[in-house]
Amino acid sequence: MGRLILGIESSCDETSAAVVKDGWQVLSNIISSQIEVHQLYGGVVPELASREHLARISSVVERALSEAGVPLSDLDAIAVANGPGLVGALLVGVSYAKGLAYATGLPLVPVNHIEAHIYANFLSPSPPPLPLLCLVVSGGHTSLILMRDHGVHELLGQTRDDAAGEAFDKIARVLGLPYPGGPHLDKLAQEGRVLYSYPQARLEEGSFDFSFSGLKSAVLNHLNTAAQKGESPPGKDVAASFQHAVVEVLVEKAIRASRSCGAASLCLAGGVSANSQLRKRLQEEAALHSIPVFIPPFAYCTDNAAMIGSLGYRRYLAGIRAGLDLNAHAAMPVANWAEKVRTDPASGGM
Ligand code: KG4
Ligand code: ZN
Repeated sequence: MGRLILGIESSCDETSAAVVKDGWQVLSNIISSQIEVHQLYGGVVPELASREHLARISSVVERALSEAGVPLSDLDAIAVANGPGLVGALLVGVSYAKGLAYATGLPLVPVNHIEAHIYANFLSPSPPPLPLLCLVVSGGHTSLILMRDHGVHELLGQTRDDAAGEAFDKIARVLGLPYPGGPHLDKLAQEGRVLYSYPQARLEEGSFDFSFSGLKSAVLNHLNTAAQKGESPPGKDVAASFQHAVVEVLVEKAIRASRSCGAASLCLAGGVSANSQLRKRLQEEAALHSIPVFIPPFAYCTDNAAMIGSLGYRRYLAGIRAGLDLNAHAAMPVANWAEKVRTDPASGGM
């Protein structure tokens, strides 16, 4: 009988619960998306997100348990994302998990949402070998994280301004695409050609940081200047050119970082890892350098609770537990926890 973890995720606009066995086998993964609620406003409205989570969380958790065929009494622990994200939204998942832990007596395991994205790659019988380098590209984050072991990481680079997903969403918006723009822009770009050469910020020599605000401004300037001349560049070509600029920088830095740190595998994670061009180009370039590459299935790229359950399992095994005073945090860096647990078990790795 394996270990069964209930994962709970509510950091942004997806209410999700999953039952994960032994950190990799997904018995259920229920995702209730609020896209239709926020679409009207062109972006996530935090207060609405909290209310929607509140309305949905009980039934999402119940469905996750029933679809997995796992009664509460068979669970080993409850894992919950308590940051980073929208604090009101996070608090719904955290409060629900605390209530459930209190009622059942099950251990409560807090999980970092960004670190959990990496674990989308572990939801498989053949996980990536360690040390791994992960390019985490989501709506709020763009980071290159070297993971030496579970709970042992190093941040090699991150965005200095906009996250990759944020840039996708902003450009999609000016192209008149619905929220969230990333997947729509991806689709539109497939019909277009890379006609415009937008800037690809590489920053200082050797830097693994990213910057997408200059690229965003360049696309906006291009469209505004064209509009003033009464021209309108085809949206599909703007989309293809913008996407090309983002993807080439991401791939180039990920490959260079992975070679320089001697990682045994290169992983992709976060919502933008659903991007078709990014998946294709990363695979092509990694093959050229004989780097084993791991890309999660689409369902585990965007926000989901299965990844929370997978990281929750590792932290549960390490003895990490939260009390009923667990709080949610809007900003929460990916912190090392393995060493903390070894040297100070009472810290709970926090
Ligand atoms: O990881 P995620 O679901 O939520 C955060 O933690 O932020 O990422 C959402 C982001 C959004 O910006 C969305 O537009 C982007 O991922 N995204 C994509 C694609 N699918 C989702 N961006 C580009 N191409 C896609 N196919
Ligand atoms: Zn996310």
